[in-house]
Amino acid sequence: MQEENKEPKRKLSLTGLKRLLSLLKFMWPKRWAFFGGLGALVISSLGTLAFPMLLGDLLDAANPEASLSRINQIALILLIIFAVNAVFSYFRIYLFAIVTQFMLARLRQTTYNQLIRLPMAFFSARRVGELNSRITADIAILQETFTFTIAQFIRQLITIIGGISLLTLISFKLTLFMLAFVPLVAIGARVFGKKVRNLSKDAQSQVAASNVIVEETLQGISNVKAFSNELYESSRYFNATNEVIRIALKGAKWRALFISLIVFSLFTSIVGVIWFGVYLVNQGAGISSGDLFKFILYTLFIGASISGMADLYSQVQKAIGATDSLLDILEEETEPETMAECKDKVQLKGNLSFKHVSFAYPSRPGVQVLDGIDFDVKTGQKIALVGASGAGKTTITALLFRFYEPDSGTIYLDDIPAKKISLNCLRKQMAIVPQEVLLFGGTIYENIAYGNTEATALQVEEAALKANALEFINSFPDGFQTIVGERGVQLSGGQKQRIAIARAILRDPKILVLDEATSALDTASESQVQQALNTLMIGRTSIIIAHRLSTIREADRILVIDKGKIVESGSHEELLARDNGKYLALQQMAV
Ligand SMILES: Nc1ncnc2c1ncn2[C@@H]1O[C@H](COP(=O)(O)OP(=O)(O)O)[C@@H](O)[C@H]1O
Ligand SMILES: [Mg+2]
Repeated sequence: MQEENKEPKRKLSLTGLKRLLSLLKFMWPKRWAFFGGLGALVISSLGTLAFPMLLGDLLDAANPEASLSRINQIALILLIIFAVNAVFSYFRIYLFAIVTQFMLARLRQTTYNQLIRLPMAFFSARRVGELNSRITADIAILQETFTFTIAQFIRQLITIIGGISLLTLISFKLTLFMLAFVPLVAIGARVFGKKVRNLSKDAQSQVAASNVIVEETLQGISNVKAFSNELYESSRYFNATNEVIRIALKGAKWRALFISLIVFSLFTSIVGVIWFGVYLVNQGAGISSGDLFKFILYTLFIGASISGMADLYSQVQKAIGATDSLLDILEEETEPETMAECKDKVQLKGNLSFKHVSFAYPSRPGVQVLDGIDFDVKTGQKIALVGASGAGKTTITALLFRFYEPDSGTIYLDDIPAKKISLNCLRKQMAIVPQEVLLFGGTIYENIAYGNTEATALQVEEAALKANALEFINSFPDGFQTIVGERGVQLSGGQKQRIAIARAILRDPKILVLDEATSALDTASESQVQQALNTLMIGRTSIIIAHRLSTIREADRILVIDKGKIVESGSHEELLARDNGKYLALQQMAV
């Protein structure tokens, strides 16, 4: 439960409350279930409130003068109330479940749709784990809030207000006497209880910290042994677990104190109320012993509700924190039109040019990553980008996909500024084969079809054939239905690469980006992948990032990038012929 410590807690402000309540719009389509549940809640709370009253009456009937029919009548009413309560409780729980489940699903769907449409700049500034917890942890907090907290709040409010009103009817004096200190005990118990709970939270996070040691060392057990650090790890774990004892015992001390004090003051206050009540009965102030019984029962109800209110307060605080971080995401600006159809129907031919493009990543505005990049590629040409790692090659392709917009300069596609083409049209006509291929945890078929979700089975197979992948796919017993990824078959780098190529072939892009697609492969699989790539490149404009001679030799033009600038450009032979050329130096280094 280390998580809980990190929960952002916000002050209970009016705007925070407003934002929390603004989430209610997600349940609006199920408002009838909500109001139905609310009605059932009010009725069952009122039923609970009638219980002490009737029970007191029943006790008062416990004397020889009372008529038997009166006794039976009260017992029957009690029975009916319980039955009605049971029915309404059923509807309350079920109706609220309908509302919250619906609302949470809507909230999750909305947040997810928002997340995947956010621009790359958003993701480079955040950790995936953090975003994941928005969808899981924050929404779980809201679930608790909307399932229990609202219902509890209303129920307790009814109990407190209704209870006190009924008490005044029984005895005004006794009510004043009770109100003078019962709420104090209730609130005191809550405040104190919180301290105890915080201490036990500390103990839990210390346990978690010591578990991390176990996890880390077991995962890296070969490291521990290779460095023969068993003794070191052992003492680290020893200290961590001893710390658990210390904190847990500190918590236990407070808990012991808390429980004994609370038990003492609780009983003292009950005795106080009874004492004063008996005194009033004695004085003949018109109070029966049944009334006294009602009084004590109501007092317990009210005390419990008041202390419950304090709990709700902290729950609402937590929910406001969760809402804030969720709304922060929901209010971010998304990339336009990524989920829509390609409306402007721009059919690219594959001409491409960069004009004085400069760029710095939004997360590092001071670092000029691209500095006045200028180049042209005509339909069907191959252009190679070479240069040291960190020179800015991948960034050039990221701008081409419009993951980011240039700070200055313009990218043209067939003489149309890229900015004028809607994102989905633009990206639909491009494909990338990256160095690290990410396969989703599904079948091989699904992974290829990802390139074009509308492709037929025949097209998928054809793409696999052209990508040199059919042979190895058919060698698996399940063929195209073989599960890959974490829970399935692990594919080799070259196999993954060919799946990615099949994906790109299926996409049939006008512009193709190969970002070090073969650089992680051994020579044997490289030649197979290279063949597949050659098929893929036919008839498309290709941008090839590579450091192996063989891959770039064929390029129509080679651009040498250094620190965000194009420092040399020309064919392989031209560049090699230069004296002291950067290209020459790069080639010599690579060999
Ligand atoms: N998402 C990012 N945010 C900030 N800086 C980045 C990001 N991606 C790359 N960079 C930086 O931009 C520079 C160029 O990176 P990159 O285009 O990936 O180089 P290359 O592909 O030529 O190896 C490097 O200094 C790198 O650290
Ligand atoms: Mg790169």
